Amino acid sequence: MAKEIKTIGVLTSGGDAPGMNAAIRAVVRTAIARGVKVKGIKKGYQGLLNEEISDMEARHVSDMIQLGGTVLGTARCMEFMTPEGQQKGADICREYGIDGIVVIGGDGTYRGAQKLSALGINTIAIPGTIDLDIACTDYTIGFDTAVNTAMQAIDKVKDTSASHERCSIIEVMGRDAGYIALWCGIANGAEDILIPEKYDYNEQSIINSIINNRRRGKTHHLIINAEGIGHSTSMAKRIEAATGIETRATILGYMQRGGTPTAKDRYFASIMGAYAVDIMLAGKTNRTVGYRHGEFVDYDIDEALQMKKEIDPYQYEVSSLLSI
Ligand code: ADP
Ligand code: F6P
Repeated sequence: MAKEIKTIGVLTSGGDAPGMNAAIRAVVRTAIARGVKVKGIKKGYQGLLNEEISDMEARHVSDMIQLGGTVLGTARCMEFMTPEGQQKGADICREYGIDGIVVIGGDGTYRGAQKLSALGINTIAIPGTIDLDIACTDYTIGFDTAVNTAMQAIDKVKDTSASHERCSIIEVMGRDAGYIALWCGIANGAEDILIPEKYDYNEQSIINSIINNRRRGKTHHLIINAEGIGHSTSMAKRIEAATGIETRATILGYMQRGGTPTAKDRYFASIMGAYAVDIMLAGKTNRTVGYRHGEFVDYDIDEALQMKKEIDPYQYEVSSLLSI
C-alpha cells in the first residue's frame, strides 16, 4: 500500500530556468490546498545535504510568479552523485519528516530523483531547463522565455549588422541541444543554423554561400551558432579572411537564462507543479511530469531517461528552405 504523504519537499537543481518560481509556487499552494505540509530545500541536492530546509506557507510564494531565476537557489552537487551522498540525502528527508520531494530541473536532476526514489523517498520530477532537451516531453519550463529573449537580442544585432553590410555569427545557449538555435534560426530568418545534432563542420560550404549570397545582392548574412558548436569568435575571423566581408561574433550567454518568464512558461510551470503534487499524493514515485500531444502526462523516470529526442527533420529542412 502506498505510504501516506503528509509532508513534501521542493527543490530546484541544475541550470536555473525562467518559470521555476511559478512551478515552486504551484507545488506549495497545491500541496497546502490538499492538506499537505511543504518544506523548501535551498540550492538543490547540495542544500538537502547541508540541511538548508525550511517550512513554506502559501504566503511565502506570493508575488513571485513573475520572477526569473529560482527563489530556492540552485546548485550542482558532486556529493549527491555518490551512493553515500544519496543515502545521506534520504536519511535527512526522514529526519525532517519529508515523505516525498518534487524536484525541478534537467536530466541530471532526474538522475538524482531516481536515486532518492530507490531509497524510499517518493520523488516526482518537473522538466525545468531552457534547453528543451528532455525526450519525454514536448515542453520544458524556461524554453519559451529563453528563446524569446534570444530572438529579441538577435533582432537588435541584425539591425546594426545589416546597416554595416556585415556577416554576423550569434551564439545561443545549448551545450548538447540545438533547440534554441533552431527556433531562433527560423524566428530570426537566419541563413545558417549550426546545431550539435546536425552540423557537419563544413565551414567551406558556409563561406561559399556567403559569397554567393553577396553576389546575388544579399547585404547581410546571419549565422546562428549553438553553444555546443562554439568557437564563434575564431569562426568569424576565418569567415572574414575567406570572404573579405566584415564578420562579427556575438555570444549572448547567460542573459538567455534570466528574465521574467513568459505567459507560456508561467502557465506550464503552474500546471506541471500542481500535477506533480497530485500524482505524488496518488502514491506515485520515480515519475516525471511531461506534456505530450497537447496533454499533461507522467512517465517513469527510468523510461524517460532512455528516450531519445531528435530534431524534427522536416522542421530542420524548412529552416534551410526559408533562408534562400
Ligand atoms: P540539470 O538538472 O540541469 O541537467 P546537472 O546535470 O548539473 O543539471 O544535474 C544537477 C544535479 O543533479 C547534479 O549536480 C547532481 O547533484 C545531481 N545529479 C546529476 N546526475 C546524477 C546522478 N547520476 N546521480 C545522482 N545525482 C545526480
Ligand atoms: O541551462 C542549460 C544550459 O544553459 C546549457 O545550454 C548550457 O550548456 C549550460 O546550461 C551551462 O550552464 P552553466 O554554465 O551554469 O554550467
